[in-house]
Amino acid sequence: MKPAKRAQNLPPLFFALLSKRIAELSAEGADIIKLDAGSPDLPPDGRLVETLKRSADDPTKHNYGGYAGQPHFRQAIIDYYGRRFGVELDNAELLPLIGSKEGVVNMHLAWIDPGDLSLIPDPCYPSYEFAPMLTGGRTERFDLLPERGWLPDFAAIPKESAKAARMLWLNYPNNPTGGTATLEFFAEAIDFCRQYDILLCHDAPYSDITYDGHQAPSVLEVPGAKEVAVEFNSLSKTYSLAGWRVGMAVGCQVAVEALATVKTQIDSGLAKPIQDMAADALIGDQSWLIPRNAIYKERRDLCLETLGKMNIETTLPKGGLYIWFRTPAGYSSLEYHTHLLEKAHISITPGHIYGNNGEGWMRISLVAKTERLKEALARLEKVTSK
Ligand SMILES: Cc1ncc(COP(=O)(O)O)c(C=O)c1O
Repeated sequence: MKPAKRAQNLPPLFFALLSKRIAELSAEGADIIKLDAGSPDLPPDGRLVETLKRSADDPTKHNYGGYAGQPHFRQAIIDYYGRRFGVELDNAELLPLIGSKEGVVNMHLAWIDPGDLSLIPDPCYPSYEFAPMLTGGRTERFDLLPERGWLPDFAAIPKESAKAARMLWLNYPNNPTGGTATLEFFAEAIDFCRQYDILLCHDAPYSDITYDGHQAPSVLEVPGAKEVAVEFNSLSKTYSLAGWRVGMAVGCQVAVEALATVKTQIDSGLAKPIQDMAADALIGDQSWLIPRNAIYKERRDLCLETLGKMNIETTLPKGGLYIWFRTPAGYSSLEYHTHLLEKAHISITPGHIYGNNGEGWMRISLVAKTERLKEALARLEKVTSK
């Protein structure tokens, strides 16, 4: 039996391979501290769990949740974008998603034919690289560099590439670098994509995990953005609901409708209790996010303090769940990752999985209890040669 070339050519996700090695080490008795994937350890507000339970108790809530989602959940998405970003969404400009990863990948089925080009950042979230492989598309990378605050220089993208491109991906607050964007930068991105008739896909799952007063803008705040841009958003990180799989695509009507058509052939929507909980998350009391973000900030500062003491270069993230730092001298990213996993039983992510520019960098996810994070940093310091 032989799988399709598509499946044969697709490399396994790094985190899937890593989980196997962690399971082996744990079976041997190792106490692994996991700081790799960005899966929030902090629970959602208890109110949301109560809404979910109440809804699950309702015998009318177990049938299909609808391809387009329930009207009250759709309205909650409209209300959220209005309240949070001052963006007015029309009902035809939104689509609920089963987590944003699903939407990011399926957007390629809706937009990328064989041979079509997608422009993606280097480094970037791996799905932007692998999803085009599923549809026969191609990718070209553009640089995100520390000296530009991890923002691309659109003028450096070759004209031929810009003319050929069908889509371009951005993600701020950025995974893995922690870079953040301004509205002025988004306006530049919109101008560039409009000039070359490119669909701008902005992936924004971290827009409500921010620090030091940073308010992450939506790309849709740029006047006219909806003509060329679609934004992917998620309740995974903002509302600590990663396992429940709920997100949204909003913006450019043509793109949203194409994605909706593809999805009607792939899935059957979100469970109604999840939609009820998500609607409550988006429109109910938001005050619990403040102490929750303060915990992430405390963890961020702990990491920066230890790495600073070790004279390791870091960047100060004003958003997101990650610390991005230079691999200590003498190691490649993968070597340092393996060294920490095998010798210190700490699992952090090597930067090369995000692209060539990620080589020489490492990513710590701020998703372990603060005391465990302290323990991890002490172990990291101990096994890192000076
Ligand atoms: C940039 C980015 N996009 C999308 C996702 C997927 O999030 P979800 O599918 O849980 O909404 C992640 C998760 O880590 C991410 O970092």
